[in-house]
Amino acid sequence: MTTESPAKVSEFEHSNLEVLYTAEDISNRVEALGRQITAEYAGKDLVLVGVLKGSCVFLSDLMRSIDLPLEIDFMSVASYKDGTTSSGDIEILKDLTKPIRGKDVIIVEDIIDTGLTLHRLIDILGTRGANSIKVAALLDKPEPRIKKEIVVDFCGFEIPNRFVVGYGLDVAGRFRNLPYVAVIRDPDQL
Ligand code: IMP
Ligand code: MG
Repeated sequence: MTTESPAKVSEFEHSNLEVLYTAEDISNRVEALGRQITAEYAGKDLVLVGVLKGSCVFLSDLMRSIDLPLEIDFMSVASYKDGTTSSGDIEILKDLTKPIRGKDVIIVEDIIDTGLTLHRLIDILGTRGANSIKVAALLDKPEPRIKKEIVVDFCGFEIPNRFVVGYGLDVAGRFRNLPYVAVIRDPDQL
């Protein structure tokens, strides 16, 4: 019996992906954000709150660029979409494991699109007595923002209103493992 392995089909060199930011672009930018946070949070009680699942890669790199004592925690929320637009209602699927009273919180997001999910999250965490709450997002799409103004205190890149994947971001659960951020050339060919 022969045990031939199947032909390798590369996920990372998929022809339907157009690279927007290389792994090196991202690494340089994340290190700069880490230096900025290190300078601003010295002597504070810093907690990074990652919003699952998209922020997992960004958070892993960002935390290793911050040269301070810190803790991490995670939240998972479902946002109810009204057709294609976010309604702003969210359900907490997984809450923080520890109180944030007196802590300096940075919410870590993969991407801010309409900003509605994050706005609700800030409302919810804002009732828990944190000393401060700021936002770090790898990507910010300022264009489609409806209704809610969000201040992204630590922003990786501002991008045009296009659908992107990679470095934690998915389409239907796929492509989170790409080491770079890419635009899908043809969304009908997935
Ligand atoms: P919103 O800001 O409430 O509209 O929702 C933001 C969430 O939508 C993000 O955390 C992502 O999970 C998802 N999202 C928005 N734009 C993109 C994109 O271009 N690629 C992948 N996910 C996206
Ligand atoms: Mg997502």
